[in-house]
Amino acid sequence: MTLATHRKLLIVAHQPSPNTELLARAALAAAKDPALDSGCSRLLLPGQASAADVLSCDALLLGTTENFGYMAGALKDFFERIYYPCLEHTQGKPYALWVRAGQDGLGAQASVERIITGLGWRAVQPALILRGQWQDEYIDQVRELSLTVAAGVDAGIY
Ligand SMILES: Cc1cc2nc3c(=O)[nH]c(=O)nc-3n(C[C@H](O)[C@H](O)[C@H](O)COP(=O)(O)O)c2cc1C
Repeated sequence: MTLATHRKLLIVAHQPSPNTELLARAALAAAKDPALDSGCSRLLLPGQASAADVLSCDALLLGTTENFGYMAGALKDFFERIYYPCLEHTQGKPYALWVRAGQDGLGAQASVERIITGLGWRAVQPALILRGQWQDEYIDQVRELSLTVAAGVDAGIY
């Protein structure tokens, strides 16, 4: 019997712009690195992701923009739909977060972390805040974050 097969990282990323699409695609590509046994990892828009998706994954990587000093409304809608169905069943779920923000990003980070405190999920990497004018290196930073989390999932260390 093979242990730790089909371990899944679920990436839930808001992608309202070409730049944020690039970030999400980089995250998925990293999670599907051929060296990892995480070929089942998936990228969903927040509106596509359900409680069943959260219940069945081994870890989550969340991506949001900062809008009006808060997470994107689409991600908040995701949390509103999955919160109670997941609450009793996903305590300790490993997760990581990136925020793309025009100026700041801390409001979005805090808003996500407040809800996740309620859910009892566990941050396995520090939040990655990509603020200010767009830089291509943001793609590498998200790729590295995703690869780190996917490798941890793959190795079963979370
Ligand atoms: C309605 C709206 C509200 C926004 N509010 C904030 C904000 O409060 N703080 C901030 O840093 N950026 C804010 N932004 C900027 C977005 O975070 C930024 O457009 C998004 O991250 C996409 O970045 P991009 O230009 O690299 O595609 C806002 C953008 C929109 C459209």
